[in-house]
Amino acid sequence: MPIANAFLPADQFDRESRFELAPAFCSACCMLQLVEQPSPEAMFHDHYMFFTRTSRRMVEHFTGYAEWLAEKWFDHPDPFVVEIGSNDGALLETFARRNIHHLGVEPSANTTEVARRHGVQTLTAFFNEPTAARIRAEHGPADAIVAANVMCHIPDLNEVGRAAAHLLAPHGVLVFEDPYLGDMIAKGSYDQLYDEHVYIFSAHSVAAAFGRHDFELVDLLPQETHGGSMRYVLARKGARRAAAAVTSILARERSAGLDRPETFEAFRIRCERQRDELVSLLGRLKSEGKRVVGYAATSKSTTVLNYSGIGPDLIEFITDTTADKQGLYSPGVHIPIVPAERFSAPYPDYAVLFAWNHQAEIFAKEREYVARGGKWVLFVPEISVVG
Ligand code: TYD
Repeated sequence: MPIANAFLPADQFDRESRFELAPAFCSACCMLQLVEQPSPEAMFHDHYMFFTRTSRRMVEHFTGYAEWLAEKWFDHPDPFVVEIGSNDGALLETFARRNIHHLGVEPSANTTEVARRHGVQTLTAFFNEPTAARIRAEHGPADAIVAANVMCHIPDLNEVGRAAAHLLAPHGVLVFEDPYLGDMIAKGSYDQLYDEHVYIFSAHSVAAAFGRHDFELVDLLPQETHGGSMRYVLARKGARRAAAAVTSILARERSAGLDRPETFEAFRIRCERQRDELVSLLGRLKSEGKRVVGYAATSKSTTVLNYSGIGPDLIEFITDTTADKQGLYSPGVHIPIVPAERFSAPYPDYAVLFAWNHQAEIFAKEREYVARGGKWVLFVPEISVVG
């Protein structure tokens, strides 16, 4: 598998690096994780291609996340909040506007520049023990350490656990949200598996991973973002009372089999079936002479396209709103990425929706396409064609 976000120009096709995308489940701590991981430097660098602000709904989501944090968890009169992997500052901007003491920690220089332009204080660094020590020395302990779609990207969770334990105030909270294993299994959304997602967490695995650093779950809040996520709230053991959701969601995970290896064997069989059905559908459309394009060059699309062996012979191009991706080719299978305006010039017969997690936003935006007879190809939770 190539690196999911490594969109590339044609002259670099022969230099593309690959790794083995192999998820494994640990029966002892219930973690689903990738066995092999490319180096963080290969994934998060000065030309990182993902900007939170590309989705209006995500920006709204992060504003809500920040407001909820401030209301529910800031009991200090002058709180200090640190975000791990603050990207373009979409979450911290709410705190910046309210003059709340904040600091983003983000390794990709291009995204930190965007954050600073929005008035968000940002440190260009990886979040680790030396960074945590430096922040504590300069700013004092944090009342909240937050993250969104970042924790599951960090291979060394023990380092993060130690760094958070050092930086957090005694009653502080460590809050993060990531794509949720329960949704991935229920929906068959195997495209959540790619290099950056080292872990697909559940309440069971988060409790085990952070329990080692003396944290415990005090709340759990399911989220609709990224095709189904979970927000985990942790505090130092004994510091805060746990909400009822912790017990009920742990019980629900046991009934869904998220603590047992057989569940993942059944999931593998379902992925293979979904892959075969998608390839045969696209092959049939091609033989009927239909024009098929992809919609949104997501990280997730790299998994689907490479796992299924779908290239430019079956998908003419993929439209995407991210300027940095346009003019490049998709990793591994080399489908051209073109500006979003190409979608309607002229409309294709079929569009594979790779950003299925933004379906409501995209369907609302592309009503004209369907009105003119265009059809969407969906592959989650099953292969389907909708007009
Ligand atoms: P997302 O599902 O957040 O991506 P990932 O799988 O990488 O986490 O989708 C973001 C990508 O989708 C980004 O490349 C921009 C693109 N996109 C569009 O092209 N049009 C849209 O309307 C939306 C919402 C996203």
